[in-house]
Amino acid sequence: MHICRTLVNSFFSLSSSTFSSSSWDDAYELELKNFSSHGDEGEVWFGEDALFRVLRWLDKKFQPEDGTDPLPSVLDLGCGNGVTCAHLSASGYKDVAGVDYSAAAIELAKKVMEKHEAKDVKLEVWFFLGSKR
Ligand SMILES: C[S@@+](CC[C@H](N)C(=O)[O-])C[C@H]1O[C@@H](n2cnc3c(N)ncnc32)[C@H](O)[C@@H]1O
Repeated sequence: MHICRTLVNSFFSLSSSTFSSSSWDDAYELELKNFSSHGDEGEVWFGEDALFRVLRWLDKKFQPEDGTDPLPSVLDLGCGNGVTCAHLSASGYKDVAGVDYSAAAIELAKKVMEKHEAKDVKLEVWFFLGSKR
């Protein structure tokens, strides 16, 4: 079943209670400026160690040893700058999507995807849960 093979990378619960949508917009507006001026992709909010631990776990669980088993689809909820999506694409995941309610985050994520040549990653502004503050 496709839905069972879809991984949900959900970072929103911590973030939603910590920041409002307008503060995320402010943060990503600044990161967009930084990216334009010196190519900095911005914050990996839970740290690169955590990101690479998740990627290693996914590899262990889903990378096919014989190359026959298709990799799962991945939906990254609250993708921010999209760095997780870019890494997944580079690891061979073909069906990767990132959503975030910050339009600035999605704009930045699109630039980050261009830089990583991660052409297949789908990105969309989407407010998926809770109430906007
Ligand atoms: C802590 S950051 C994590 C960003 C990225 N995943 C990372 O690891 O660097 C949380 C992200 O979730 C987004 N977010 C929080 N609540 C959301 C909601 N209800 N709908 C859509 N996006 C949301 C924020 O805009 C922010 O980009």
